[in-house]
Amino acid sequence: MYELITLGWELTVCNALHPEGTPIRKILTRDDSFGHLLYDHLGKYMPMERITRVIEIGGGYGYLMKDLLERNVKLEPCMLDLSPFLLQKQKGTLRGYNVSYREGDFLETDPADITGFDLAVVNENLGDLPTLVNMNEDLLRSSSDITDPILRSALHFFERYDLERPGGVFNLNIGALQALEKLCAAGIPYIYVGEHSCEASVPEALRSFIRIGSTGNPEGIALKGHYEYTIKFSYLEAVARAFRYRVFRGPFADFIAFDLTDELRNILLNHDSTSDEAEMVCQFIEDLYKYEYMVIIKDA
Ligand SMILES: C[S@@+](CC[C@H](N)C(=O)[O-])C[C@H]1O[C@@H](n2cnc3c(N)ncnc32)[C@H](O)[C@@H]1O
Repeated sequence: MYELITLGWELTVCNALHPEGTPIRKILTRDDSFGHLLYDHLGKYMPMERITRVIEIGGGYGYLMKDLLERNVKLEPCMLDLSPFLLQKQKGTLRGYNVSYREGDFLETDPADITGFDLAVVNENLGDLPTLVNMNEDLLRSSSDITDPILRSALHFFERYDLERPGGVFNLNIGALQALEKLCAAGIPYIYVGEHSCEASVPEALRSFIRIGSTGNPEGIALKGHYEYTIKFSYLEAVARAFRYRVFRGPFADFIAFDLTDELRNILLNHDSTSDEAEMVCQFIEDLYKYEYMVIIKDA
């Protein structure tokens, strides 16, 4: 027996939709995989047929990229991942396609190595990047007094991008901010990011069925083998806009549509946990609103 020391399988929204015939897929308006649904949604914002060089950061098992390749075989993906275990899995999933692989921490990656891509895909991993916890404004008050490089970096984001300063104690997704700044600074014309948001909301009409709370402050979530944080998307939005990108943002439900049948209404209203399947469905529908995406497009 041994323990996996790198990141392993995780029930991401993408993984939840991966197997054909999963009960989750039955509630969708269109029974399809995460990547196919995402590809079609991205097509509303970018000319998918003209995109070839794609970098995916943190591709997990490679399911999302396989879906994108099934839609467009002309793609030439580069998979960049911290985990040798998951890179091996990606190589298995993507066998037969024209894919390159790089092992490394995206935050440490030389900016020169990420230029020249048409599209960057960052799905459900910004929350894995470092978050500063229990910050308060006093820590950032006087820039000249700050010597700690991490606090200086935090201050840089507030000053350079004029981020709204939260009152009291707060957490800051410093890794996610650094990652997005790096992608924008590289001038990649199209960027997609998706992650668990701390600013999620449900449309008024669905609030009696789907109840989720959002504090606006990144919160820790304990997962098997690691800890991650929800993402403050409004800060990412400010970074992208400062680099003259247009930003389109919404819940995953924008591209993963479901039919609100009487049966589904009942499951959601009763927060049904009488069967594994009903519990899974409740969790999944909530996730469609807890997770947000941003499509970021560089102005010509
Ligand atoms: C939760 S998985 C997401 C997998 C996939 N994108 C999906 O949506 O199913 C997070 C992925 O990000 C990778 N990762 C985490 N931190 C990273 C970093 N600093 N640099 C590169 N990859 C990272 C992990 O190894 C893993 O492949």
